[in-house]
Amino acid sequence: MIKSLEDIQTTNETIVAKIRSFFQSVITQTSVAIDLGTSMTRMAIIGKGIVLKEATYIGQHIQQGTYLFFGDEARLMYGKTPQFIQVIKPLEGGILSDFDGCVALLEHFMQKAILPYYKNASLIKPGMKAFIAIPSSATEVEQKATKEAFRKVGFTSVHLTLKPYAFASGARGSIFHHMPLFVADISAGLTEIAVVISGGIVCSKTIPMGGNYMDRQLQHYLQLKYGMMIGEQTISLLKDRLLNLQGTNDTQTARGKSLETGLPKSLKVTASDVREATATSINHIVDAVREVIESIPPELVDGVVQKGLTLTGGLAQVPGIADYISKEIKIPVSVTEHPDMATINGLIRLARQKGEQSVFF
Ligand SMILES: Nc1ncnc2c1ncn2[C@@H]1O[C@H](COP(=O)(O)OP(=O)(O)OP(=O)(O)O)[C@@H](O)[C@H]1O
Ligand SMILES: [Mg+2]
Repeated sequence: MIKSLEDIQTTNETIVAKIRSFFQSVITQTSVAIDLGTSMTRMAIIGKGIVLKEATYIGQHIQQGTYLFFGDEARLMYGKTPQFIQVIKPLEGGILSDFDGCVALLEHFMQKAILPYYKNASLIKPGMKAFIAIPSSATEVEQKATKEAFRKVGFTSVHLTLKPYAFASGARGSIFHHMPLFVADISAGLTEIAVVISGGIVCSKTIPMGGNYMDRQLQHYLQLKYGMMIGEQTISLLKDRLLNLQGTNDTQTARGKSLETGLPKSLKVTASDVREATATSINHIVDAVREVIESIPPELVDGVVQKGLTLTGGLAQVPGIADYISKEIKIPVSVTEHPDMATINGLIRLARQKGEQSVFF
């Protein structure tokens, strides 16, 4: 039977698609996006989606040096281990502070979430690519250490980008447009504020103020006000459950030790306790946002004011935080959807469009 020209064209296209999919199944490179956060690590396989979200904690046997607990399990053990085990947080302020611990933790996460996929991804293994966001305050040495850690874990190429590109992209979409994106990420270790436009950072500020600092402030406050010593994990839970900037006054009972007698004691902690304890941190964050606004070039002010500030990071989930900041800085403030996932979502987006307009180095 004689086929029409259109039929022949369709058949050719099908053959080309089949050949392409055959080669893809033989040599597909696995690309992985990693948001290595001070409190949480998120991993995603490009083209597949998010495959891991676990605490950045690791438990080590002190004498033997071996690692025993990883991620969420290690966090559960924090403050509850026998003397021969220490639970480490291998990142401080978004930067590697324990290189070996970090490599061991990443190796565990890779085994759990990435390698099973990688083994089945293709016949020939062309290696794995890593796309990572690091704080814009990281020094060259810290950048090199981060690259080195990921190479040790098994990545053949490691691409870094500055965090503001990632969370701005995760919260607001393309960072390559000519409209300024004003974004603040309030996380565990750091608060980073930036104005991003046309794939560049116009002005930014990073301060070592975030959830971890607030936890320490709350711990100190409860010691001074009630003479109570409360463990770090309980403090963090109290802050997550009670902190709100809407003025509501919920309570939560917590158990700890009396500083006076050393005996167990329980205490009803109120939301206003948490507000009072963390007020200076919140105000430091507002001051930092103000400083960034003051450094915005005049031509961009209109664009920034129109679209306002978008909040990302775990602390953006504090009820009332957007309204509070908005009243202080007098421009609209909103919270992005799933603010704690903005950095990893942005990394996925940036890794996918890696090409001419790249923010990776
Ligand atoms: N509802 C909430 N209210 C208050 N704080 C919260 C809430 N949810 C999470 N947090 C806090 O947010 C912080 C975690 O934020 P996030 O996951 O963005 O940090 P991270 O990415 O691990 O850290 P970083 O980016 O600074 O390295 C923790 O301090 C946690 O206690
Ligand atoms: Mg983060």
